[in-house]
Amino acid sequence: MKSRLVYHWLLYVASLVHILLVPFVLAGSILLEEGTVISFDDASQTPRILRNTSILITNDRITTIFDSSNPSDVPIPTDTERVPAQGKIISPGFIDTHKHGWQTAYKTIASNTTLAEYYIRYGEFSQAETVFTPEDIYLGQLVGIYEALNAGVTSILDHAHSTFSRETASASLNASMDGGVRMWWCYAFHDISNGFSLEDQIENFNELKKDERLGESTVEVGIAYDGFSTAAKEEVQSIMDLATTSNISALTIHYLGGPWPRFSANSPKLLHDLDFLNTSFPIVFSHSSFITPEDASLLRQTNQYISTTPESEMHYGHDHPTTPFIQDQAALGVDTHFTYSADIVTQARLWLQSTRLEFFRQTLNRWRIPRNSPMSVNQAFLLATRAGGLALRRPDVGVIRVGAKADIVVFDGSSPSMLGWTDPVAAVILHSNVGDVEHVLVNGKWRKRDRRLVLKEGLNMSRDEVEGKFLESAKRIQEVWMQTPLPDLEGEFEPGFGVPYADVDVEDVVRGNGTGY
Ligand SMILES: *[C@@H]1O[C@H](CO)[C@@H](O)[C@H](O)[C@H]1NC(C)=O
Ligand SMILES: *[C@@H]1O[C@H](CO)[C@@H](O)[C@H](O)[C@H]1NC(C)=O
Ligand SMILES: *[C@@H]1O[C@H](CO)[C@@H](O)[C@H](O)[C@H]1NC(C)=O
Ligand SMILES: *[C@@H]1O[C@H](CO)[C@@H](O)[C@H](O)[C@H]1NC(C)=O
Ligand SMILES: *[C@@H]1O[C@H](CO)[C@@H](O)[C@H](O)[C@H]1NC(C)=O
Ligand SMILES: *[C@@H]1O[C@H](CO)[C@@H](O)[C@H](O)[C@H]1NC(C)=O
Ligand SMILES: [Zn+2]
Repeated sequence: MKSRLVYHWLLYVASLVHILLVPFVLAGSILLEEGTVISFDDASQTPRILRNTSILITNDRITTIFDSSNPSDVPIPTDTERVPAQGKIISPGFIDTHKHGWQTAYKTIASNTTLAEYYIRYGEFSQAETVFTPEDIYLGQLVGIYEALNAGVTSILDHAHSTFSRETASASLNASMDGGVRMWWCYAFHDISNGFSLEDQIENFNELKKDERLGESTVEVGIAYDGFSTAAKEEVQSIMDLATTSNISALTIHYLGGPWPRFSANSPKLLHDLDFLNTSFPIVFSHSSFITPEDASLLRQTNQYISTTPESEMHYGHDHPTTPFIQDQAALGVDTHFTYSADIVTQARLWLQSTRLEFFRQTLNRWRIPRNSPMSVNQAFLLATRAGGLALRRPDVGVIRVGAKADIVVFDGSSPSMLGWTDPVAAVILHSNVGDVEHVLVNGKWRKRDRRLVLKEGLNMSRDEVEGKFLESAKRIQEVWMQTPLPDLEGEFEPGFGVPYADVDVEDVVRGNGTGY
């Protein structure tokens, strides 16, 4: 009698536990079944292809990877969501290590701009600080994240220089948390003219960092700062002090070098001289176009990375002649996605093919015929994935292995562009397009399912509402820019540095004088 009671009592407790636990199991376990997985081989440091392989995801992590052709006793939790992946390519999510997400509203209005024009017309020191409202910043950041997720970009290092006021900074952080991407949100400290001083910015940063929602989100806070070479010593010191005492997850800096005076000194060498390169947090030097051998050696010694943004550096004319020599400490970025593609596969493809051209040409210029190719698709793939994780000192991001974060992209291997593949890495890098991205998971959560975006749970707007409001915002902003005359680029780029502006030959597809633009 007594034992029967105990038995009933146990059943009752078990049912309570079941009620409490099942929702988590339901929400947490996903099985991608019988796909081709691009994993990583530690011994050879190259992508490792696992065919007919299944991946079990529990909560935010990859918990099991197993060979489906060998019947095994891998325990699959009941209520696991089974997703067939036969014929599909399962890749780690792509990592964008340099982006300015707030600028989405400018889309297509700078299709032939240059870097000098960008600074004056579109950047953080332009009229943007007076035109963009907090809501504009929120909508641009959010819609920019959707563009990235749709393309399989699951991680973004955002150099957030829309910190024009407390409100625009808060709006940018809110959208980053609402977007559902993994983000290193790096608050930019800068000398803008509207009275929002450095002291205000530091106070604002300290406040935002305390936001309790961060703990539940996939957003971590970092710092962006370009003043190392130009600001007063005290200011630079205050930023370094803030960075070392704030438990930041990353610090990011624009660095060009070569003929670009303003950023020429924001180099690894300068930070090393300030005793601020061998830090406990990762530092990402975006572009690093004219990086020197000494800089490169310092990056290797301190395990810091550059972010090369191939399309940006070609579109604006930053160039990147020496970055191929530091690819072992490099990751890829997009930069200003309003001017071109936001997907990292395109960046990897552009970088691969332009790097091949550069090295082929060196041989051809010696009147020799190249017998081998200078760079492989495997290297481009690693730049687009694992290298981004390493740049952020996150070996659990950008790779498919047990224990890694479940940031995953599933390509439809039977799309018209991909059909017929044998090598999944070549299929992704050289043949895929954004339309072939069928599913995307970030932190074990669906962000794209069957080619449709899945908005983060709890967002109080539908996708139609977000996009409707964004279109109004973009239309208003674009009209302001259309009314603003293009800047006169006369004299020197930065007076006193001896680097004047000069004309570039314009190439035209129409014979004779043509149409110009
Ligand atoms: C995977 O292996 C299972 C078990 O051997 C087999 O039934 C299935 O056809 C295989 N799938 C593929 C895509 O090869
Ligand atoms: C870009 O093209 C427009 C015409 O569409 C032209 O007015 C403008 O000068 C061009 N800007 C640059 C930087 O080439
Ligand atoms: C950001 O979100 C928080 C919490 O919902 C809210 O209090 C704050 O006003 C938002 N910021 C802006 C600029 O809307
Ligand atoms: C530092 O930040 C990380 C997340 O980026 C967090 O896990 C850790 O607890 C923080 N440490 C301290 C001392 O606040
Ligand atoms: C960087 O700092 C670590 C200690 O934090 C030290 O072990 C290492 O030798 C330093 N590396 C360089 C290149 O200074
Ligand atoms: C071509 O351009 C030159 C220099 O601007 C000008 O002198 C000439 O008249 C133009 N020719 C035509 C056919 O437009
Ligand atoms: Zn940038």
